[in-house]
Amino acid sequence: MSTPPAAGPVHTADLVVFGGTGDLSMRKLLPALYHCDRDGRLSPETRVIAMSRGGLADADFRGKVDAEVRDSVPVDDPAVWQRFLGRLHHVSVDVGAANHPGWHHLAELLAPHEERDRVFYLASPPRTFGPFCRELAEAGLVTPRSRVVLEKPLGHDLPSAQRINDEVGAIFDERQIFRIDHYLGKETVQNLLVLRFANAFLEPIWNSLWIDHVQITAAETVGTPGRRGYYDHAGALRDMVQNHLLQLLTLTAMEPPARNDREAIRDEKVKVLQALRPIVGTEADRFTVRGQYVGAGDLPGYLDEPGSTPPTESSRRVETFTAIRAEIRNWRWAGVPFYLRTGKRMPYRRSEIVVQFKDVPHSIFPGGSPNRLVLRLQPEEGIELHLMAKEPGAGEVTLKPVPMALSFGKTFTARVPEAYERLLTDVLAGNPTLFMRRDEVEAAWRWIDPILDAWRATPALPEPYPAGTTGPAGAHELLGRSGRAWHEEEL
Ligand code: BG6
Repeated sequence: MSTPPAAGPVHTADLVVFGGTGDLSMRKLLPALYHCDRDGRLSPETRVIAMSRGGLADADFRGKVDAEVRDSVPVDDPAVWQRFLGRLHHVSVDVGAANHPGWHHLAELLAPHEERDRVFYLASPPRTFGPFCRELAEAGLVTPRSRVVLEKPLGHDLPSAQRINDEVGAIFDERQIFRIDHYLGKETVQNLLVLRFANAFLEPIWNSLWIDHVQITAAETVGTPGRRGYYDHAGALRDMVQNHLLQLLTLTAMEPPARNDREAIRDEKVKVLQALRPIVGTEADRFTVRGQYVGAGDLPGYLDEPGSTPPTESSRRVETFTAIRAEIRNWRWAGVPFYLRTGKRMPYRRSEIVVQFKDVPHSIFPGGSPNRLVLRLQPEEGIELHLMAKEPGAGEVTLKPVPMALSFGKTFTARVPEAYERLLTDVLAGNPTLFMRRDEVEAAWRWIDPILDAWRATPALPEPYPAGTTGPAGAHELLGRSGRAWHEEEL
């Protein structure tokens, strides 16, 4: 497969990854960086410095990456792999230990290259964001050419997100802060902007006159084995909706920006979040659904997932599935529901945006169904427009919905890059367009918090759904009440 084009000039940078030997780093960041290297998107001098409590020498860390990452990436040229390993360094630090010799060691490594871009990537728990930024500043390591990347979760509610933003903002300017939502790096998500704003035919019908409703789904087959410590305090609303699903909603609903630039696009996205109708108090009973998977067949329930700490009272209350009927209060979208849905242990892994058009105003054929545009993020990124066509044959006219399909994999020969490759390339190039601005993150929490409050206030537990199914009955009723159905139920 051919190499995707570089996203712009290749800058030399020192990339310092906190949590550098953790799961995210080993599973996503290092493989993505290797791909960037292989495709010529890392300058020869760019270095990756992993920070952890591990006490590893550079050689130990390179050995670990060789053993744990090499098999997950295509190594067609061993020299490129060796070149990649040669970029890696390791420094031991502990959070809250300003006198730790690791800070001195890091300073020594960075000092000869004061002029380079420095990227501090915080792939560590959010409670460490403020302290690490402070310690970096105290060690004199934050230069005007430095940037900081924050992984999710950015807080667990609005006040905690504001606190993190304040702490990081005390050291870095907003233009230096890159808040990651890896969904924004997915190919189809960027294509949504191109589809909407580089084609003329959609804009006249992209509104409440023509669109009946929108469905945004992120369904996963995986459960949460070994993640209870995190997931008990997160749940599907914080883990997936506050960030990934709301980002997809904003890109679907935003007004056309005047320019393809960092602020113009993010300005429009914030306006959508600000226009979301709040769901407050008992309204949550009507507009939201919570579910938790229970064991079915060979699949364990949430409370029985192996490798976790024993379940507690909060485990019983946590939602592994949620569906929400959202509304956007503006001229374009008045009266158009946006249904959001995400769940663990569903029967398939599928993330998609489905735009359901209204039916024809007057039908002269029996058996038609309204047009539907499906933007599939995964698996198999692509776009499908479902049109009505006549089934071939003499006699009665019989209608059949047929997809007009664009599969990125089949249409383009270039390898579709992983989301983190795109985002790391942008961070290294200093382009923040695909990262969340402070006001965006806070506007999202402002809408999520009342739902969390309403759920906390009710003694009711999430509705059970058997592992491997499409969620609780309530999710089907949420649409069924208005004569609608989830996309896959009509396939
Ligand atoms: C992460 C969530 O942000 O996204 C996980 O914390 C989830 O719970 C993951 O599994 C889904 O990402 P993707 O790219 O596999 O859809």
